[in-house]
Amino acid sequence: MAFCPIFCCGNGSDRKGRGKKQPPWRVFSLKELHSATNNFNYDNKLGEGGFGSVYWGQLWDGSQIAVKRLKVWSNKADMEFAVEVEILARVRHKNLLSLRGYCAEGQERLIVYDYMPNLSLLSHLHGQHSAESLLDWNRRINIAIGSAEGIVYLHNQATPHIIHRDVKASNVLLDSEFQARVADFGFAKLIPDGATHVTTRVKGTLGYLAPEYAMLGKANESCDVYSFGILLLELASGKKPLEKLSSSVKRSINDWALPLACEQKFSEIADPRLNGDYVEEELKRVVLVALICAQSQPEKRPNMVEVVELLKGESKDKVSQLENNELFKSPLAVGNKNDGISAAEGSSDFISEEKESKHETEENTEP
Ligand SMILES: Nc1ncnc2c1ncn2[C@@H]1O[C@H](COP(=O)(O)OP(=O)(O)OP(=O)(O)O)[C@@H](O)[C@H]1O
Ligand SMILES: [Mg+2]
Repeated sequence: MAFCPIFCCGNGSDRKGRGKKQPPWRVFSLKELHSATNNFNYDNKLGEGGFGSVYWGQLWDGSQIAVKRLKVWSNKADMEFAVEVEILARVRHKNLLSLRGYCAEGQERLIVYDYMPNLSLLSHLHGQHSAESLLDWNRRINIAIGSAEGIVYLHNQATPHIIHRDVKASNVLLDSEFQARVADFGFAKLIPDGATHVTTRVKGTLGYLAPEYAMLGKANESCDVYSFGILLLELASGKKPLEKLSSSVKRSINDWALPLACEQKFSEIADPRLNGDYVEEELKRVVLVALICAQSQPEKRPNMVEVVELLKGESKDKVSQLENNELFKSPLAVGNKNDGISAAEGSSDFISEEKESKHETEENTEP
């Protein structure tokens, strides 16, 4: 199937002035991207994800780019590419990583973004920058609010609305000022107006998946809210979304944090790399918001507009309502003195290796 871009407004052929506003994105030639990335040299590789590899590059004008080189051996990949191109080309917000251009030549499908010099949240929490402790509390709270605002834009302002479906630490990139830019809308599908959810392939990353999405493949905004809750806990605690307890059992970060929150032991949740240097009220708010987001019943989760409001702590009433939420009075959680393990066993987030491997093969719930 020949690749056919959904948009024509970004075509680079009409970029030479003539009084027209320059399009925000353009088509790159394969030659230009080969030369920018030193022929997709291994040393330029930033990492690899579900769709392919990402390379650092530099254009002739000195600007730095990140090029996602997609695996294109199936028609499905062509479709994914078209979807991502269309969605990204539409979306512009200070907390979203927008598309700078694309290239579709021969078998190659590439997407070009601005390079984010501070890489991803993942690299600071668990990766190459984790030892440097560059994420002080102020940066963390800004990243929390900024990324929430990016998702609010996707859910409420983008037309049609967009469900991200893959909110996670490697998809929150950090610019030179450590401002959050939520990336990767390759999983997102456009929600037709009036539809409350779309049933489709279960995608996303283990540990961040809302239980109803993992089981039924029903994606709506509240699945992103769940993933965002996991991301917030990760940001506050520095822990990974899933912790291996034994060779066959993993515990989710929310099952670990809920009993501690019920007992008001917020300092035990805080990332030790913060060395106690955080605003107690803010940490508590972040943790409570995170747990409200990452609860298993989707109808009880807040929406992202409410999440931003709560994170900012602007309404004292809403913050105190949050503290009094029934979730934090759960006898299951409070009674659990076992580091969250017994509570976790009954929950849908408690994943055995067997279930995990099933998820990794991607369930297709479509007929
Ligand atoms: N514009 C960018 N600037 C800097 N680093 C980037 C940029 N885009 C992606 N990366 C990094 O490159 C690596 C690979 O990204 P990629 O999106 O392919 O995989 P992923 O985020 O781990 O998984 P997924 O495919 O689910 O998004 C990640 O660590 C990501 O944070
Ligand atoms: Mg990514």
